[in-house]
Amino acid sequence: MSARRVYLDWNATAPPWPEVVEVMRQTALEAWANPSSVHAEGRKARAIIETLREAIAQLVEADPRDVILTSGGSEANALALNGARALVASRLDHPSVTRAAEALGDRGVAVAWLPVAPSGRLAPDSVRSALAELGAGATAVVTAVNHETGVVQPVREVFEQVRAAGARLHVDAVQAAGKVDPELFRRADSIALAAHKLRGPKGIGALVFRGNPSLIRPLAWGGSQERGLRPGTQDAVLAAGFLSALAHSADGPARYQRLAAHRDRLEAALAGLARPNVTEHRAPHVSSLYVPGARGDELVAALDLAGLAVSSGSACSAGSSEASPVLRAMLGEERARSSIRISLGDGTGGDAIDFAISVLRRVLSSSGAGASGIA
Ligand SMILES: Cc1ncc(COP(=O)(O)O)c(C=O)c1O
Repeated sequence: MSARRVYLDWNATAPPWPEVVEVMRQTALEAWANPSSVHAEGRKARAIIETLREAIAQLVEADPRDVILTSGGSEANALALNGARALVASRLDHPSVTRAAEALGDRGVAVAWLPVAPSGRLAPDSVRSALAELGAGATAVVTAVNHETGVVQPVREVFEQVRAAGARLHVDAVQAAGKVDPELFRRADSIALAAHKLRGPKGIGALVFRGNPSLIRPLAWGGSQERGLRPGTQDAVLAAGFLSALAHSADGPARYQRLAAHRDRLEAALAGLARPNVTEHRAPHVSSLYVPGARGDELVAALDLAGLAVSSGSACSAGSSEASPVLRAMLGEERARSSIRISLGDGTGGDAIDFAISVLRRVLSSSGAGASGIA
C-alpha cells in the first residue's frame, strides 16, 4: 500500500473547500433552527436558504422562485422528469435520468431513446426527429457535460430544435456547473445541479424549473417548503455549504481550462498503454482511457493500492461489475469493460500528474496493457 495518495476521481465527488467545511460548522452552531419557523431563530436559518436560492438563480439567470432545493442531482433529475408527458433521452445520460425514463415508460409515458454515436455527441437533428414523433409538450433531456467521458453536448443547438418542436429542454448540468461556461446550459427550461460536484456538501442540489410549476409532479407530499413541490424541512447547514461552494466556483471555468494541459500530458505519457475513448468536444478535466486487454475494475483496484484514486465508470455502479453504460452505448461492451475514468479538479497540480503517470505506467504495464498493440 502506497503512503502517498492522489485523488483523480473528482467527477465522483469533489473534496469540499476548507471554507465550505468551516461555514457549515459555524452554521450548525448558529442557524440550526427550522427555516419554516416564524421566530428569529427560524428566520436566521431561512435567510441562508433564500440567499442560496438567489445565488443559484443568478448562476442560470432565473427567477429565485424557480429554484427548488433538492437532496442532490438525482432527485433534481427525477423531479424534473416525473411530470413529463413524453420524453426524449439517451443512454449517454446519468442513471438518475435513464432509470427515471424507464420508470416513466413503465407508467405508460412515451419515451424515445436517441441514437448514440461513437463520439458520444448527440446529433441535434436526431432530437428533432424524436420530438416530431412525440408531438408538442414533450421533454427532451441532455447531459451538458458527460460524467464518464467529459463530452460536452451541443446544448444550444439541441435547444433550438426543442423550441421549434414546442417541447421543453431539461439539462443535467451536474458535471457542468462551475467547470464550463454556464452559458452552455443556463437557457434550458429546467436544470439539475448538485453541490458536491463543485466542492460543496453531499445531500443538497437544486432543480431550476422555468414555466408552469403545475408541470411538476412532486415526488413527496407534506408542507409548503419549496412551494410544496419538494416538501420537507430544509437544512441551512447544507445550504450554507452549497452557497460557499458556488461563490468559489464563480471563476471555476477559467481555472478548469488549465487542466486540459495536465490531462493531455497524462494521455501523451500513456501512449502505447492506453488510448483516450474520446478526444474531441470534451471538458478539460476528464480522460476516459481504453486499456486493451485489461479490466477496468481490476485496474481501479490495483491503482488504488498504488495510491491513485480513479474509477471505472460512474460511482453509483461501483461495487458492481457492471461496465460503464455510457461507454457501452458509444463503443460496445469490450471497450466499456476495459476502460478507466480519470477526472481532475481544481486542486490537481503538476506533481499529482507526475505521480499519476508513474503509477499508471507501472500498473498498466504489469496488467499486460499494450500487449495487444496500441498504435
Ligand atoms: C451527470 C450526473 N447527473 C446526476 C448525478 C447524480 O447526482 P447526485 O449524486 O447528487 O445525486 C451525477 C452524479 O454522479 C452525475 O454525474
